[in-house]
Amino acid sequence: MFRVLVSDKLGTAGLEMLEKAADADYDMKTGLSKEELLAIMPEYDALIIRSGTQADADVLAAGKKLKVVGRAGIGVDNIDIPAATAQGIVVMNTPGSNSIATAEQTMTLMLAVSRHTVPAHNSLAAGEWNRAQFVGVELHGKVLGIVGFGRIGRLVAERAKAFGMTVLAHDPYVKAEDAAKLGVSLVSLDRVFSQADYLTLHTAVTPQTTKMINRPALKKMKNGVIIINVARGKLIDEAALAEALQEGPVKAAALDVYTSEPPAADNPLIDLSNVLHTPHLGASTVEAQRNVATQIVSQVLDCLRGVETRNAVNKPS
Ligand code: MLT
Repeated sequence: MFRVLVSDKLGTAGLEMLEKAADADYDMKTGLSKEELLAIMPEYDALIIRSGTQADADVLAAGKKLKVVGRAGIGVDNIDIPAATAQGIVVMNTPGSNSIATAEQTMTLMLAVSRHTVPAHNSLAAGEWNRAQFVGVELHGKVLGIVGFGRIGRLVAERAKAFGMTVLAHDPYVKAEDAAKLGVSLVSLDRVFSQADYLTLHTAVTPQTTKMINRPALKKMKNGVIIINVARGKLIDEAALAEALQEGPVKAAALDVYTSEPPAADNPLIDLSNVLHTPHLGASTVEAQRNVATQIVSQVLDCLRGVETRNAVNKPS
């Protein structure tokens, strides 16, 4: 019998699949401390997580029987991939399963920050009727700069074009002709920075992209740019962005992700009135959670059974 530990909240549809599996037994234990997790890891053949569990080298080493770590979602920055690879553990994610939710969250934030939706709501709820204070700007006719033109970046581009935006994208791994098919110009990062009225990030955190939105990058940006980040907080130097939101050139930002989550009490972005915040809700739709849960459970079970290994992000030795 395979033993599976689910250590972050997982959609019911995925848990039902585990329930029905005749050859697998699962425990769902969320909110464990590192010590608690280390203590139980030796019992399990598979670990299924979202972004809450830190599958670091210690946790993986404690998994004496561990064969596979399944990430219900896309980002694998909470898993020590080299340590897993060295230990022969497969790490897999579910690319595509929550891309629409994330693209829609990007559009939600772009629109809401442009039209002052949250402050306008708060003002009305406080008994005011203040129309003059909340004059917004339109997406139509503006330039959207997309950094990272993978699945989510492309879905955002399609939606932005429907709003009448001109879309520029930067991605060193994409061919210009593929972008052109979607009516998007693939350009240098500097050109994205200098021409975008809206800048949205859809790239993974790597040594090259960590804090890519830093002081020098912000200096290259257009006056009045609006920055959206639903990818990862570590892509942004938060102190530099806070400065740019107060002194220019950044007019506003909408952030779903933070360097540490929840954001630290002294995070310089939290109290700024020109920032719209959400608590990492990019993938938080009923549909996306059902998709990631069923997809990861099916992949993990197939991997344990030796049927097939899908969406592995490493090649274990
Ligand atoms: C992802 O990487 O899939 C999203 O950021 C959502 C999540 O972390 O659960």
